[in-house]
Amino acid sequence: MKTIVLLFILATTIATSHGLDLDHGKENKIVPRELKAFSSAHYERDIRCSSWRLGVETNNIIRFKTVPAKCKDYIRNYFLGDQSRADTKAVLSEAYSYAKSLDIIKGANYTWVFDIDETLLSNIEYYADRGFGTIPHNATDFNKWIEKGKLPALPHSLKLYNKLLALDIKIAIITERPETQHKITVKNLWNVGYRKYAKIIFKDTKKEIYKGKTTLVYKLAERKKLEKEGFKIIGNIGDQWSDILGTSTAVRSFKLPNPLFYVA
Ligand SMILES: *[C@@H]1O[C@H](CO)[C@@H](O)[C@H](O)[C@H]1NC(C)=O
Ligand SMILES: *[C@@H]1O[C@H](CO)[C@@H](O)[C@H](O)[C@H]1NC(C)=O
Ligand SMILES: [Mg+2]
Repeated sequence: MKTIVLLFILATTIATSHGLDLDHGKENKIVPRELKAFSSAHYERDIRCSSWRLGVETNNIIRFKTVPAKCKDYIRNYFLGDQSRADTKAVLSEAYSYAKSLDIIKGANYTWVFDIDETLLSNIEYYADRGFGTIPHNATDFNKWIEKGKLPALPHSLKLYNKLLALDIKIAIITERPETQHKITVKNLWNVGYRKYAKIIFKDTKKEIYKGKTTLVYKLAERKKLEKEGFKIIGNIGDQWSDILGTSTAVRSFKLPNPLFYVA
């Protein structure tokens, strides 16, 4: 036992002395010579929050309940500056390039799956009023907001949506919103310009198969049903990995940025 403790202390000491404390890597031998010319003052102050965001977007950081309190200003800047829009635009123009490159066969039911919240519609106004994800989620409060039916479209998503329709690609919407929000959701979508889709699927919590199941399980099961009905899912887009991972995946899937919350 003593040997193990000693080895652990030794290993920790070695790790720290090799710069694994991430202290701007002044002694880091793998940093190219040009970069060494910069003093540590040139490093972005928020480096740890940007690393946190990268971790979230790449699905390395999962199951977080809130945005770290210290990253509130960072996340605010992300949305109120133009980074969020730029990231979103990059994803959506890549999605469109892909769709355009396809040989669309008439009557073949080529279908694109969309998520709703933070994909077709934006709740950023809601989160801006509640600490940009730093406050724990309150379902009662959130549902009240949703049921006002006043969410704006994500402008670049609406553009992609219309371009896909113009390419003769069918749209299927799969949302984790409950069936009870069906009517208000359709109205909200209509009012901001989403008016034509082959399918819109809500999470029917009364169905035994979805009781206590994750969004990932629910969404893959609904995609499988779509496939059985003859839809060929060539694209899928969502702001959560649970929108796109699993089985019955699309030929290509696209992940929109969302550093605000995590849905399993
Ligand atoms: C959640 O929001 C509702 C108002 O919409 C409020 O009455 C309730 O106290 C909140 N719950 C928590 C735990 O903050
Ligand atoms: C297209 O979908 C419809 C149902 O929406 C189905 O009846 C038809 O067989 C499908 N076509 C193909 C080629 O799979
Ligand atoms: Mg979403």
